[in-house]
Amino acid sequence: MADNRPIGVFDSGIGGLTVLREIISAVPSESTIYFGDDGRSPYGTKSHETIIKYALQDMMFLKSQNVKMIVIACNTASTHAYKVLKEAADVPVLEVVVPGAKASVKATRNGKIGIIATRATIASGLYESAVREQGKDIEGLEVISQACPMFVSLAEEGWWDDEVAFLTAQKYLEPLKKAGVDTVVLACTHYPLLANTISKVMGPDVTLINSGIAVAGDVKKILEDNDLCSDGTSVTHEFFTSDDPLIFEDVAAPFLGSGLPKGTKKVAVDRYDIGEFL
Ligand code: DGL
Repeated sequence: MADNRPIGVFDSGIGGLTVLREIISAVPSESTIYFGDDGRSPYGTKSHETIIKYALQDMMFLKSQNVKMIVIACNTASTHAYKVLKEAADVPVLEVVVPGAKASVKATRNGKIGIIATRATIASGLYESAVREQGKDIEGLEVISQACPMFVSLAEEGWWDDEVAFLTAQKYLEPLKKAGVDTVVLACTHYPLLANTISKVMGPDVTLINSGIAVAGDVKKILEDNDLCSDGTSVTHEFFTSDDPLIFEDVAAPFLGSGLPKGTKKVAVDRYDIGEFL
Protein backbone atom coordinates (compact mmCIF):
# COMPACT_ATOMS: atom_id res chain seq x y z
CA MET A 1 0.00 0.00 0.00
CA ALA A 2 1.19 3.54 -0.76
CA ASP A 3 2.45 5.74 2.05
CA ASN A 4 1.67 9.37 1.20
CA ARG A 5 3.08 10.89 4.38
CA PRO A 6 5.80 13.49 3.67
CA ILE A 7 9.55 13.13 4.09
CA GLY A 8 10.85 15.52 6.78
CA VAL A 9 14.09 17.36 6.10
CA PHE A 10 15.78 19.77 8.48
CA ASP A 11 18.83 21.99 8.57
CA SER A 12 20.19 24.76 10.73
CA GLY A 13 18.84 27.16 8.12
CA ILE A 14 18.46 27.52 4.39
CA GLY A 15 21.55 25.53 3.35
CA GLY A 16 19.73 22.20 3.59
CA LEU A 17 17.67 23.28 0.59
CA THR A 18 20.64 22.14 -1.53
CA VAL A 19 19.92 18.66 -0.10
CA LEU A 20 16.14 19.01 -0.48
CA ARG A 21 16.66 19.94 -4.13
CA GLU A 22 18.45 16.62 -4.73
CA ILE A 23 15.78 14.66 -2.82
CA ILE A 24 12.96 16.22 -4.87
CA SER A 25 14.85 15.37 -8.02
CA ALA A 26 15.54 11.74 -6.93
CA VAL A 27 11.98 11.03 -5.68
CA PRO A 28 9.70 13.53 -7.46
CA SER A 29 6.48 11.79 -6.43
CA GLU A 30 7.16 12.29 -2.73
CA SER A 31 5.84 15.15 -0.59
CA THR A 32 8.31 16.93 1.67
CA ILE A 33 8.33 19.15 4.75
CA TYR A 34 11.41 21.30 5.24
CA PHE A 35 12.36 22.98 8.49
CA GLY A 36 15.17 25.56 8.59
CA ASP A 37 16.24 26.66 12.06
CA ASP A 38 17.25 30.13 10.87
CA GLY A 39 16.41 31.68 14.23
CA ARG A 40 19.22 29.68 15.90
CA SER A 41 21.61 29.32 12.95
CA PRO A 42 24.54 28.79 12.53
CA TYR A 43 25.05 25.43 14.22
CA GLY A 44 28.65 25.21 13.01
CA THR A 45 29.92 27.46 15.78
CA LYS A 46 27.86 25.87 18.62
CA SER A 47 28.84 23.30 21.27
CA HIS A 48 28.12 19.56 20.99
CA GLU A 49 25.39 19.78 23.68
CA THR A 50 23.64 22.72 22.04
CA ILE A 51 23.68 21.07 18.61
CA ILE A 52 22.09 17.90 20.08
CA LYS A 53 19.41 19.93 21.86
CA TYR A 54 18.55 21.92 18.74
CA ALA A 55 18.54 18.85 16.49
CA LEU A 56 16.22 16.98 18.89
CA GLN A 57 13.77 19.89 18.87
CA ASP A 58 13.95 20.06 15.07
CA MET A 59 13.13 16.36 14.94
CA MET A 60 10.24 16.72 17.42
CA PHE A 61 8.72 19.41 15.22
CA LEU A 62 8.97 17.17 12.13
CA LYS A 63 7.50 14.24 14.05
CA SER A 64 4.53 16.44 14.95
CA GLN A 65 3.96 16.79 11.19
CA ASN A 66 3.54 13.02 10.75
CA VAL A 67 6.58 12.48 8.55
CA LYS A 68 7.55 8.96 7.42
CA MET A 69 11.30 9.61 7.35
CA ILE A 70 13.67 12.26 8.70
CA VAL A 71 16.67 13.50 6.75
CA ILE A 72 19.28 15.47 8.70
CA ALA A 73 20.45 17.69 5.85
CA CYS A 74 22.85 19.58 8.11
CA ASN A 75 26.39 18.14 8.25
CA THR A 76 27.02 19.72 11.64
CA ALA A 77 23.87 18.14 13.12
CA SER A 78 24.67 14.85 11.36
CA THR A 79 28.11 14.61 12.96
CA HIS A 80 26.98 15.64 16.45
CA ALA A 81 23.40 14.42 16.82
CA TYR A 82 22.70 11.50 14.44
CA LYS A 83 23.13 8.77 17.07
CA VAL A 84 20.80 10.48 19.54
CA LEU A 85 18.17 11.19 16.89
CA LYS A 86 18.27 7.66 15.52
CA GLU A 87 17.59 6.30 19.03
CA ALA A 88 14.82 8.81 19.65
CA ALA A 89 12.93 8.49 16.35
CA ASP A 90 10.34 5.90 15.42
CA VAL A 91 10.84 6.47 11.67
CA PRO A 92 14.03 5.98 9.58
CA VAL A 93 16.60 8.77 10.14
CA LEU A 94 19.18 9.52 7.44
CA GLU A 95 22.28 11.64 7.79
CA VAL A 96 24.68 13.06 5.23
CA VAL A 97 28.12 12.00 6.49
CA VAL A 98 28.38 8.33 5.53
CA PRO A 99 26.85 8.84 2.04
CA GLY A 100 29.35 11.69 1.42
CA ALA A 101 32.26 9.62 2.74
CA LYS A 102 31.29 6.62 0.57
CA ALA A 103 31.05 8.80 -2.54
CA SER A 104 34.48 10.34 -1.89
CA VAL A 105 36.16 6.95 -1.53
CA LYS A 106 34.54 5.82 -4.77
CA ALA A 107 35.73 8.94 -6.59
CA THR A 108 39.35 9.20 -5.51
CA ARG A 109 42.06 7.96 -7.84
CA ASN A 110 45.15 8.89 -5.83
CA GLY A 111 43.80 8.14 -2.31
CA LYS A 112 44.06 11.77 -1.18
CA ILE A 113 40.73 13.16 -0.02
CA GLY A 114 39.97 16.65 1.29
CA ILE A 115 37.04 17.41 3.61
CA ILE A 116 35.80 20.98 3.93
CA ALA A 117 33.13 21.86 6.49
CA THR A 118 32.15 24.07 9.43
CA ARG A 119 34.38 24.27 12.51
CA ALA A 120 32.06 22.04 14.56
CA THR A 121 31.97 19.33 11.87
CA ILE A 122 35.76 19.29 11.49
CA ALA A 123 36.28 19.43 15.27
CA SER A 124 34.04 16.36 15.80
CA GLY A 125 36.52 14.29 13.77
CA LEU A 126 33.59 12.11 12.66
CA TYR A 127 33.69 12.99 8.99
CA GLU A 128 37.36 12.10 8.83
CA SER A 129 36.70 8.78 10.65
CA ALA A 130 33.86 8.01 8.25
CA VAL A 131 36.13 8.56 5.22
CA ARG A 132 38.89 6.43 6.84
CA GLU A 133 36.40 3.67 7.63
CA GLN A 134 34.91 3.67 4.11
CA GLY A 135 38.39 3.85 2.57
CA LYS A 136 40.10 1.30 4.81
CA ASP A 137 41.10 -0.80 1.79
CA ILE A 138 42.89 2.11 0.09
CA GLU A 139 46.57 1.79 0.77
CA GLY A 140 48.17 5.01 2.08
CA LEU A 141 44.82 6.84 2.25
CA GLU A 142 45.34 10.49 3.19
CA VAL A 143 42.53 12.65 4.56
CA ILE A 144 43.00 16.40 4.91
CA SER A 145 40.34 18.31 6.83
CA GLN A 146 39.82 22.05 6.62
CA ALA A 147 37.22 24.26 8.30
CA CYS A 148 35.95 27.02 5.97
CA PRO A 149 33.51 28.95 8.21
CA MET A 150 33.29 32.04 6.00
CA PHE A 151 31.89 30.00 3.09
CA VAL A 152 28.54 29.91 4.94
CA SER A 153 28.23 33.71 4.99
CA LEU A 154 29.38 33.99 1.38
CA ALA A 155 26.72 31.50 0.30
CA GLU A 156 23.99 33.33 2.21
CA GLU A 157 25.09 36.69 0.77
CA GLY A 158 24.81 35.23 -2.72
CA TRP A 159 28.55 35.83 -3.31
CA TRP A 160 29.04 32.44 -4.91
CA ASP A 161 31.23 33.17 -7.85
CA ASP A 162 32.94 36.53 -7.41
CA GLU A 163 36.42 37.71 -6.46
CA VAL A 164 35.71 37.79 -2.71
CA ALA A 165 34.66 34.14 -2.84
CA PHE A 166 37.68 33.30 -5.00
CA LEU A 167 40.23 34.94 -2.65
CA THR A 168 38.60 33.35 0.41
CA ALA A 169 38.63 29.95 -1.27
CA GLN A 170 42.28 30.34 -2.28
CA LYS A 171 43.22 30.92 1.34
CA TYR A 172 41.15 28.10 2.84
CA LEU A 173 41.99 25.53 0.18
CA GLU A 174 45.75 26.00 0.10
CA PRO A 175 46.49 23.02 2.41
CA LEU A 176 44.33 20.76 0.23
CA LYS A 177 46.10 21.91 -2.93
CA LYS A 178 49.50 21.42 -1.31
CA ALA A 179 48.54 17.89 -0.27
CA GLY A 180 47.50 17.12 -3.86
CA VAL A 181 43.99 15.89 -3.08
CA ASP A 182 42.04 14.73 -6.13
CA THR A 183 38.65 14.67 -4.35
CA VAL A 184 37.03 17.23 -2.07
CA VAL A 185 33.93 16.52 0.01
CA LEU A 186 31.63 19.55 0.29
CA ALA A 187 30.72 18.57 3.86
CA CYS A 188 28.48 21.54 4.54
CA THR A 189 25.04 22.25 3.12
CA HIS A 190 26.07 25.67 1.80
CA TYR A 191 29.19 24.70 -0.09
CA PRO A 192 27.57 23.27 -3.26
CA LEU A 193 26.60 26.88 -4.02
CA LEU A 194 30.29 27.78 -4.14
CA ALA A 195 31.18 24.75 -6.27
CA ASN A 196 32.27 26.85 -9.27
CA THR A 197 34.64 28.92 -7.19
CA ILE A 198 36.01 25.88 -5.35
CA SER A 199 36.56 24.16 -8.69
CA LYS A 200 38.35 27.19 -10.10
CA VAL A 201 40.76 27.13 -7.16
CA MET A 202 41.27 23.36 -7.00
CA GLY A 203 41.47 22.84 -10.76
CA PRO A 204 39.43 20.78 -13.23
CA ASP A 205 40.91 17.41 -12.25
CA VAL A 206 39.63 17.57 -8.68
CA THR A 207 36.25 15.91 -8.10
CA LEU A 208 33.82 17.70 -5.78
CA ILE A 209 31.46 15.51 -3.78
CA ASN A 210 28.00 16.90 -3.03
CA SER A 211 26.68 14.81 -0.14
CA GLY A 212 23.13 15.97 -0.97
CA ILE A 213 23.23 13.90 -4.15
CA ALA A 214 24.63 10.93 -2.24
CA VAL A 215 21.94 11.02 0.46
CA ALA A 216 19.12 11.49 -2.07
CA GLY A 217 20.03 8.09 -3.55
CA ASP A 218 19.77 6.55 -0.07
CA VAL A 219 16.37 8.19 0.50
CA LYS A 220 15.05 6.51 -2.66
CA LYS A 221 16.47 3.13 -1.68
CA ILE A 222 15.13 3.20 1.89
CA LEU A 223 11.66 4.21 0.71
CA GLU A 224 11.64 1.32 -1.76
CA ASP A 225 13.15 -1.26 0.62
CA ASN A 226 10.70 -0.39 3.42
CA ASP A 227 7.56 -0.11 1.33
CA LEU A 228 7.28 3.58 2.13
CA CYS A 229 6.81 4.99 -1.40
CA SER A 230 3.93 7.35 -2.11
CA ASP A 231 1.56 6.84 -5.06
CA GLY A 232 2.42 10.33 -6.34
CA THR A 233 -1.04 11.84 -5.88
CA SER A 234 -1.21 15.39 -4.44
CA VAL A 235 2.54 15.98 -4.01
CA THR A 236 3.24 19.02 -1.79
CA HIS A 237 6.39 20.78 -0.57
CA GLU A 238 5.92 22.68 2.70
CA PHE A 239 8.41 25.02 4.35
CA PHE A 240 8.87 26.09 7.96
CA THR A 241 11.40 28.35 9.62
CA SER A 242 12.10 29.47 13.18
CA ASP A 243 12.72 33.03 11.95
CA ASP A 244 10.91 35.44 9.64
CA PRO A 245 9.27 33.50 6.75
CA LEU A 246 9.75 36.39 4.32
CA ILE A 247 13.48 36.60 5.01
CA PHE A 248 13.65 32.81 4.65
CA GLU A 249 11.92 32.89 1.27
CA ASP A 250 14.08 35.74 0.04
CA VAL A 251 17.37 34.05 0.86
CA ALA A 252 16.12 30.55 0.05
CA ALA A 253 14.81 31.07 -3.49
CA PRO A 254 18.19 30.71 -5.25
CA PHE A 255 18.91 27.49 -3.33
CA LEU A 256 15.88 25.71 -4.80
CA GLY A 257 14.92 27.36 -8.06
CA SER A 258 11.55 26.50 -9.69
CA GLY A 259 9.46 29.07 -7.77
CA LEU A 260 9.97 27.52 -4.32
CA PRO A 261 9.68 28.08 -1.42
CA LYS A 262 6.17 29.50 -1.06
CA GLY A 263 3.83 29.90 1.94
CA THR A 264 6.57 29.40 4.53
CA LYS A 265 5.29 29.27 8.13
CA LYS A 266 7.02 30.22 11.36
CA VAL A 267 7.54 27.62 14.12
CA ALA A 268 8.48 28.27 17.75
CA VAL A 269 10.80 25.25 17.70
CA ASP A 270 12.30 25.95 21.13
CA ARG A 271 8.92 25.06 22.67
CA TYR A 272 9.25 21.40 21.66
CA ASP A 273 9.86 19.28 24.74
CA ILE A 274 12.87 16.96 24.49
CA GLY A 275 13.15 16.20 28.21
CA GLU A 276 12.60 12.46 27.74
CA PHE A 277 15.66 12.17 25.45
CA LEU A 278 18.25 14.05 27.50
N1 DGL B 1 24.04 23.54 7.79
C1 DGL B 1 25.39 23.64 8.31
C2 DGL B 1 26.19 22.41 7.88
O1 DGL B 1 25.89 21.73 6.93
C3 DGL B 1 26.08 24.89 7.83
C4 DGL B 1 25.54 26.18 8.46
C5 DGL B 1 25.68 26.22 9.96
O2 DGL B 1 26.80 26.36 10.49
O3 DGL B 1 24.66 26.11 10.62
O4 DGL B 1 27.16 22.09 8.52
